[in-house]
Amino acid sequence: MTDSSKLPGATHLECTASGERHESEQLIGLSPVGKPLFARYDLDALKAGFTPDAVACRSADLWRYEEVLPVRDRACQVRLGEGWTPLVEASRTADRLGVRRVWIKDEGQNPTGSFKARGLCLAVSRALELGAKELALPSAGNAGSAAAAYGAAAGLPVHVVVPRDTPAPILEEMAALGADVQLIDGLITDCGRVVRQGVEEKGWWDLSTLKEPYRVEGKKTMAYEVFEQLGRRLPDAMVYPTGGGTGLIGMWKAFDEMERLGWIGSERPKMFTVQAAGCAPMVRAWEAGEESAAMWEGAATYASGLRVPGAVGDFLILRALRESGGGAMAVHDHAMAEWVRVMGSDTGIFAAPEGGATAAAVPFLMEKGLIAESDEVVLFNTGSGLKYVGMVPVD
Ligand SMILES: Cc1ncc(COP(=O)(O)O)c(C=O)c1O
Repeated sequence: MTDSSKLPGATHLECTASGERHESEQLIGLSPVGKPLFARYDLDALKAGFTPDAVACRSADLWRYEEVLPVRDRACQVRLGEGWTPLVEASRTADRLGVRRVWIKDEGQNPTGSFKARGLCLAVSRALELGAKELALPSAGNAGSAAAAYGAAAGLPVHVVVPRDTPAPILEEMAALGADVQLIDGLITDCGRVVRQGVEEKGWWDLSTLKEPYRVEGKKTMAYEVFEQLGRRLPDAMVYPTGGGTGLIGMWKAFDEMERLGWIGSERPKMFTVQAAGCAPMVRAWEAGEESAAMWEGAATYASGLRVPGAVGDFLILRALRESGGGAMAVHDHAMAEWVRVMGSDTGIFAAPEGGATAAAVPFLMEKGLIAESDEVVLFNTGSGLKYVGMVPVD
């Protein structure tokens, strides 16, 4: 049960490009220059009470970090059991890959079977708190079902626009969760256009990733959890399957918060983006040394979460890779599928193809000298393999 006492929430929102400050207690999407907004907190004031010891005995969900989350009214915390997913040691996979230690953060165990639950939990809770009446988003699939679930729990209608070839289990799930689902012959970017029309004409509140400030706040909790679950330290490397990049951007933000709070020092894991060979705008931009990424034409991969040809947070992803000493790598669909099987038989985790992609990337990252044999590596399995049944490519 939640109580109705108030939390401090964010002090303000900050434009990630210009640094300009904005009032946080209003429904607001992008900054006036069209860039994502970050929620900022009074970390100096929180420092004394919000410590690893203080959170250690709290609820096993992401609300254990409520002081660094934007929801002020506990009655608006929409809860379905999100977060505090297992961090599973994969020693057989580590031996196979030739690295010291491998952990799998199994995000498939979230409500609706993917890490999208974290972001949408926060975005919907905030939309509820700030008075939005109808929610909408374009999705590659998993974000849509997470939005549908949290919308249903909050009592708010949700419109989801997805590509027609979104995995069938996800379409069924969204319908069962009461969402209005529109199927589009096209990609997530085409779906975005339909949502924008609904926003302009019907007053929908747009939950597109990084186009409102709070999905990233939910996703950042993965970093706090890894820190706690590793016994209050960070790994050498994190490998993250990247579409819009909200999780990677969120975790990078969380490390700065954790340093300001005195939880960690200046150490950071090397952050790695993995994308599909058939849709790798970040990898291409990374290899060319660019600070933003051009749209990828003809995006194709069975890992629907990675079929994202362009990202509004491209510059934030590339900045995190650069500042962390990490990098970016593309892998083929057949390699993802193969590593789903290998990870499954090594660990008992039935990973989404996006999760398989993280393991598939490690040998290439080692070949390039970006991951060392002595490294301890966290792989993010961002979803459950059950959602992709029937989609696996046959060689
Ligand atoms: C299972 C899965 N993994 C990874 C991603 C990419 O996530 P992000 O947009 O945070 O980069 C998605 C996005 O749909 C997804 O569904």
